[in-house]
Amino acid sequence: MASTRAASIQPKTAAFSPNGKAFSSPKRKDLLTVEHLPLETVLHLLDRSDHYVKFLEAPGPFQKLKILEGRTIANLFFEASTRTRTSFELAERRLGADVISLTPAVSSLAKGESILDTIRVLEAMKIDAFVIRHNVSGVPGFLASRLPHNLHVVNAGDGVHEHPTQALLDAAEMRAALGSLSGKHVAIVGDILHSRVARSNAWLLAKLGAKVTFVGPDTLMPRNVAAVFGVDTTNNLDSILDTADAVMMLRIQMERQARGFFPSIEEYREEYGMTPERMSRSTALILHPGPINHGVEIETEAAYGERSLVLRQVRRGVAVRMAVMEWLFSNEV
Ligand code: CP
Repeated sequence: MASTRAASIQPKTAAFSPNGKAFSSPKRKDLLTVEHLPLETVLHLLDRSDHYVKFLEAPGPFQKLKILEGRTIANLFFEASTRTRTSFELAERRLGADVISLTPAVSSLAKGESILDTIRVLEAMKIDAFVIRHNVSGVPGFLASRLPHNLHVVNAGDGVHEHPTQALLDAAEMRAALGSLSGKHVAIVGDILHSRVARSNAWLLAKLGAKVTFVGPDTLMPRNVAAVFGVDTTNNLDSILDTADAVMMLRIQMERQARGFFPSIEEYREEYGMTPERMSRSTALILHPGPINHGVEIETEAAYGERSLVLRQVRRGVAVRMAVMEWLFSNEV
């Protein structure tokens, strides 16, 4: 990808639209990465998500808020999604925004229109923000670099790069369950190499003072993990079970693998699966970003057992995305 912005929040003073018209908005905010998200902003978003969890759990009919009244958000998912797409849509609607969700397979993208032209067409219809998922790393950042500065971009997962709102919702649920993440040990297990969730979580958990261990076979581990992420690695899941406060199981991302990275599913399950037997040797909370491959990286009893945060992660997804969309248009840090 030709260009990505180094920082997720980058104040601007001027830019030019495709027709050459100058724009200026020093307060534009995007959410492209957590790697470059200031701790102050992280804490603000986590706190606001706590507020919105309470709001969403309040009894009685749901009251639509007016925080984004008059704003129009476009959700552009160029890659499959259930949780992220629906929770962004719910979050935007619950804040009072008008929402459109483009399905690439039945849009003019299928006739060969470029993503940039698609964005320009929507921009001409006065869209205020784009939420973008793409299977190529860097696409949200690239599009953000080409958009006028009165528009906002949120990365809803790009290739093997980052999934910022997933990491925020994971951290928010772990913080709610453990009280604080400072000094806590979080193990992230499985296909680290192809996981944007692992990358965003490593950056974010380090900011919040947690110790992170990546667990998986060497073939599914990125290079230079200690230098790049500042986290430990091990091939031995059993060696961290008694010290981990939380264990995040990852799906093997077959769609990103051009060749086999392990001998068989059975062997993978034996070495890296969260089985009932492993559950019995640990007191850790269990997380999974979804979608789950039952009987591979995690057994159903572990995925939906009493120490599991899996469905709480889904619920928190709406609250975190409400916090993010509110923040985009606010003067908050
Ligand atoms: N966790 C996650 O990104 O799930 P979806 O692919 O269903 O959005």
